[in-house]
Amino acid sequence: MSMQSGVLRQGPEKPAGQPVSSQAPPSRGQPAAIRADHVSLVMTAGAGGDPPKEILRDITLSVGRGEVVSLIGPSGCGKTTFLNTVAGLEEGYEGSLEVLGDRPSAGRAEVGYAMSRDALLPWRTASRNVELGLEARKMAKKERRELARDALERVGLGDHLDSYRAQLSQGMRQRVALARTLVGNPSLLLLDEPFAALDAQTRVLMQEHLARVLTEYRGAVLLVTHDIPEAIVMSDRVLVFSQRPAHVSKEFTVDVPRPRSIVKMRSSSAFASLQDRIWSELAQGEEGR
Ligand SMILES: Nc1ncnc2c1ncn2[C@@H]1O[C@H](COP(=O)(O)OP(=O)(O)OP(=O)(O)O)[C@@H](O)[C@H]1O
Ligand SMILES: [Mg+2]
Repeated sequence: MSMQSGVLRQGPEKPAGQPVSSQAPPSRGQPAAIRADHVSLVMTAGAGGDPPKEILRDITLSVGRGEVVSLIGPSGCGKTTFLNTVAGLEEGYEGSLEVLGDRPSAGRAEVGYAMSRDALLPWRTASRNVELGLEARKMAKKERRELARDALERVGLGDHLDSYRAQLSQGMRQRVALARTLVGNPSLLLLDEPFAALDAQTRVLMQEHLARVLTEYRGAVLLVTHDIPEAIVMSDRVLVFSQRPAHVSKEFTVDVPRPRSIVKMRSSSAFASLQDRIWSELAQGEEGR
């Protein structure tokens, strides 16, 4: 299928101001990877005595098994907070939230979470950084080593198992962080701006890399990014969050078979048109500030 033949589809239009309910296609008998139903979150005052802050309002969305969904939205609107809530790190939300069929809880082996900074421990080798979560699960050393090697090979770092953080470029560090998230084959990946800290050239290389990794990965992905092309290339659907308090303001479907070529996709007119539509949706949200 070519990008020119109208395979990029925009999600259902909803009147301005009305939250969009974004639902994954029905999954085969299994619970969705993420099912959020009218999820709202108010942060209560911190030590400084700040007034309560409404961060999420009435978020209804779902991510199917094996589906890649991107979240894009203005800075400070609540994207990371939503990922944290899905990862079980943020309690006190209202509404219903199911992650792989259960209430969210931290430290689940089936959920891999890559936070926006690479956060590698400098005194551990790449392999030992990837093993961290497996150690916490009390996995035997030999098995851990093998899984870490496999994960690092998947991100093209098979020959850097014993390198320390200081010996790795920023792009390599991000790949180690990605390997740490992929290790043990979680059923759900949560990725928060995985390439934000990279220069433009390395970012494109990393995006190519992730697109390839995702071609083989069978689980679900929720990817937060500010990079519209990245969102389009990686995803089956792109959800736009409104300004805070965040809700889903619009959904776009990217109906292009994998493996995808970033170069081919980015040069197509359908891609440019979708990029424009997402951009105007974001700009509209910003105008309301
Ligand atoms: N622990 C906290 N206590 C109070 N407010 C918080 C806390 N964590 C985040 N916030 C506020 O929640 C809002 C949403 O933050 P969040 O980090 O989720 O935004 P974001 O969409 O990820 O932004 P960015 O794109 O800049 O990463 C912000 O206004 C932030 O100040
Ligand atoms: Mg964030």
